[in-house]
Amino acid sequence: MKAIQQYDFGGPEVLTVTEIPEPEPRAGRVRVRVTGTSVNPADLAARAGWLRQVLPDLAPPFILGADLAGTVIDGDGPFAPGTRVAGLAPWFVNQEGTYAEVVSIDPAHLAQIPDGVDDVTAAAVPITSETAWQSLDLGGLEAGQTVLVTGASGAIGGWAVQHAAGRGAKVVAVASNGDEKYVEGLGADIVLGRAGDAGELAAAVRKAVPGGVDLVVDPAGIGGDLIHAVRDGGVFVVIAVVPEPLAERGVEVRRVSAQSDGALLAQILADLADGKKKARVGLILPLTEAAEAHRKSEERSVRGKIVLTV
Ligand SMILES: NC(=O)c1ccc[n+]([C@@H]2O[C@H](COP(=O)([O-])OP(=O)(O)OC[C@H]3O[C@@H](n4cnc5c(N)ncnc54)[C@H](OP(=O)(O)O)[C@@H]3O)[C@@H](O)[C@H]2O)c1
Repeated sequence: MKAIQQYDFGGPEVLTVTEIPEPEPRAGRVRVRVTGTSVNPADLAARAGWLRQVLPDLAPPFILGADLAGTVIDGDGPFAPGTRVAGLAPWFVNQEGTYAEVVSIDPAHLAQIPDGVDDVTAAAVPITSETAWQSLDLGGLEAGQTVLVTGASGAIGGWAVQHAAGRGAKVVAVASNGDEKYVEGLGADIVLGRAGDAGELAAAVRKAVPGGVDLVVDPAGIGGDLIHAVRDGGVFVVIAVVPEPLAERGVEVRRVSAQSDGALLAQILADLADGKKKARVGLILPLTEAAEAHRKSEERSVRGKIVLTV
């Protein structure tokens, strides 16, 4: 099968199209013929080598990729051969990446893709939507509370806005320039621009919500003085690999670590099929152009997920 291997850390050029044997059937696993995967910031960090800050033993050769959509070939578990599935592979645990034509995966990580959701869209969903949901859980968000979401034009931020609005929270969101209408359409009640530093953003939030927000979820990794935006005793959830802000005024700082959850993904995909939520796909390229996809992602020239089709 074709897979994108890397034999060294480095720039996008280290992503190499190779032919390797398909994974053998294994107890407790299913094999999935991949139709789509997507590019995530962690893929860029792993490829370049700086993810060794959190995974010190990471060493090439390995195959990148955590998201997948595809069709079940065979194996154990609830999905019959031919079922369309999507999932978040536990790449951080086993480095068995999804930039490949066939993957072997524990079916607990998978969800059936409902009718009405195509494979490209499904491939864009798993890690970012699950991380956003789990960030709100970690922050203890309750209906009626107010949450600030940074990076709302991005993947996790966009999901966090939609999930929080769906849970009955009031959402203050930070949009990228020119993207305010889109973010408003995701369900944000107040949309702020991203100009200024962390302290200025905190001041803008305090102007909009004088008592401070109950919760900040920060996929943009702004951190620092943005903690001033949280009310006394609130929660600040760190998502990106950045230093944590210094806790103050009883505000708790918590760091999310996404856990693959097929049941949660099934619920999110059902919301997509029902038109209650939407995924943002910005560019579709064939898997063999993974290096070009990484270049585009690093240039930050694409708004929305970059999906690699197989
Ligand atoms: N903890 C976990 O388990 C976990 C799981 C998955 C991902 N992550 C991490 O979460 C982070 C976000 O992932 P993602 O997929 O959502 O990335 P993404 O789609 O690239 O979104 C990041 C967003 O942050 C915005 N942004 C960057 N700097 C900003 C600033 N100074 N002020 C305001 N907005 C800013 C970007 O806007 P522009 O596009 O305008 O620059 C973009 O919209 C990444 O660091 C990723 O590695 C963590």
